[in-house]
Amino acid sequence: MCGIFAYLNYMTPKTRREVLEYLVTGLKRLEYRGYDSAGVAIDNVDSKGILLIKQTGKVKVLEDAIREQMVDHDLETPMTTHCGISHTRWATHGVPSDLNSHPQRSDIDNTFVVVHNGIITNYKDVKTFLEKRGYVFESDTDTEIIAKLIHHLYMQRPSVSFRELVEQVIQQLEGAFALAFKSKYFPGECVATRRGSPLLVGIKTKTRLATDHIPILYGKDEDNKKEHRPHGHRDVPLLPRTDSTSEFQPLEDKEVEYFFASDASAVIEHTNRVIYLEDDDVAAVKDGALSIHRLKKTMEDALAREITTLKMEIQQIMKGNYEYFMQKEIFEQPESVINTMRGRVNFVNQTVTLGGIKEYIPEIKRCRRLMLIGCGTSYHSAVATRQLLEELTELPVMVELASDFLDRNTPIFRDDVCFFISQSGETADTLMALRYCKQRGALIVGITNTVGSSICRESHCGVHINAGPEIGVASTKAYTSQFISLVMFGLVMSEDRISLQSRRKEILMGLTQLDKQIKEVLQLDEKVLEIAKGLFEKKSLLIMGRGYNFATCMEGALKVKELTYMHCEGIMAGELKHGPLALVDDLMPIVMIVMRDGVYNKTINAIQQVKARGGLPIVICEQGDKETEQFASKILEVPKTVDCLQGILTVIPMQLLSYHIAVLRGCNVDCPRNLAKSVTVE
Ligand code: F6R
Repeated sequence: MCGIFAYLNYMTPKTRREVLEYLVTGLKRLEYRGYDSAGVAIDNVDSKGILLIKQTGKVKVLEDAIREQMVDHDLETPMTTHCGISHTRWATHGVPSDLNSHPQRSDIDNTFVVVHNGIITNYKDVKTFLEKRGYVFESDTDTEIIAKLIHHLYMQRPSVSFRELVEQVIQQLEGAFALAFKSKYFPGECVATRRGSPLLVGIKTKTRLATDHIPILYGKDEDNKKEHRPHGHRDVPLLPRTDSTSEFQPLEDKEVEYFFASDASAVIEHTNRVIYLEDDDVAAVKDGALSIHRLKKTMEDALAREITTLKMEIQQIMKGNYEYFMQKEIFEQPESVINTMRGRVNFVNQTVTLGGIKEYIPEIKRCRRLMLIGCGTSYHSAVATRQLLEELTELPVMVELASDFLDRNTPIFRDDVCFFISQSGETADTLMALRYCKQRGALIVGITNTVGSSICRESHCGVHINAGPEIGVASTKAYTSQFISLVMFGLVMSEDRISLQSRRKEILMGLTQLDKQIKEVLQLDEKVLEIAKGLFEKKSLLIMGRGYNFATCMEGALKVKELTYMHCEGIMAGELKHGPLALVDDLMPIVMIVMRDGVYNKTINAIQQVKARGGLPIVICEQGDKETEQFASKILEVPKTVDCLQGILTVIPMQLLSYHIAVLRGCNVDCPRNLAKSVTVE
């Protein structure tokens, strides 16, 4: 959903080549967020103006364009200060094109340039306002109004600081945004802000930082009256504090580099020290000092933003020997499921501890109902675990698609407990649903894979799924880790239920075996490839199952659709005779999931109905199930585990199948068309 990356060096001489490399590499790390077009803005050779290079297509296309266009530029002279901003786009307003690419600009002189992630909902009103004042728009984007609005405000009051101009701009904007600005009037400065879309600041210093916190400046900049002359002045005072008594000590270091990025994967190769910005924070770098400012202070507002240390390792965001990130992430699942359980499941004592929600368990036990809310794959993890949670918590459990939940204005009560499941922790629909429930007094539990994400921060409590960075747009390892996180929650809730102890025991036993069993399933890879060869030219695929494995059908179908662009439907086997059976003949490819659980006999009925209509099902079943095998045209056998965990093992062949079909069809596995990983717009 668009990626923003900005870089600023101060007293650490860097050549233009290095700055450009930083920007392009940062964009490559963020490419999973959108890959319709990409662009950079850097200082011109004479440092008087701004050079913009934008290109439709992936970051690689931009990289080639930079190489071509920069041949005549001085690439090797070190510059002590240089600010560059960059962007990779997932188109929302305006088709993918060079003109609609970011950075967007205020005028043909590139006086102000901006990169944006999000959607400005009132852009038409602002556009009309600006058009009446003579501004002519060149793109179809909502973002262009931001570049032109800041220019307009500057022309009204050229004496105000860059940071204050940005503050004035965001007061006029409605919708969601993360923004980074650069201006030829404020060389060596960068201002960034967010509302609803994620943004962090990375800080790299030669010496250890003297502080773990950056104080927040509140209030208006009234005293900052010194004139701000265009082109390179250096005498504007640091912002005064207007409503606080404590001293403002900006972060200063002689040699410092700053990064603004949509997520940590873009900065981790430079620094592990980051600040996650909050909505309406305005972060400004000027003369090497970083300040964070907010216009208004409420009772809940903090006095400072913490500088946190990322735990991520650079290897985690590299492909290693794999062709695609998705492939790597599928094969990481034996480890990622262990990481999800690490330090939480004590197999000896048969206990599960979830530190992030521990204190809230008594309150959760008293609740009226559990609501599990998410989108796409995250929603499917809720579907996969609903039955088990009903059993282990003995509470009503509702599963909801965040968008539909909001559309219906679903009634929410103070004694509801609402779980928000999201890999990125930034999905706009899920975040909106969270805020909706929070306003109504429900307890908010976040289940996310991204520390510091909006859902993480806005939840009362939560579980971090610890799957490690997931970069492939199609979610794989996050799904199995979400699944396990919800199972662990069920185990916590049932710890003191005598009647459930034997059930808990078998589930815990199942969890101990999972990593080895996943490794066994991954050995099916070659066999799955052979099956994919028979399917990749087909138009359609049906995936059927029921009970604990229905979620695998929906998740498998989503993977096939998004990666291969082939029509695919997950069908509840119990619904077969109510309509979908009409689709079945000897030409329709069908995958059926048939496990020896409580619905085995009913699933066998479905497979017989399929066979009776000439269907030739590919069957995913338990190892050694000869009886089921006789119905199959092809068979994929997975190890047996407890019924409620079986979905973790049955989804992996579907992940592999969608991956291989996509490769055989020549699709870009990590970057499916029209999609982006983190969907920060509603
Ligand atoms: C599918 C996929 C999406 C996401 C959905 C929610 O492979 O990745 O369906 O699951 O966009 O994203 P998160 O989990 O980040 O909220």
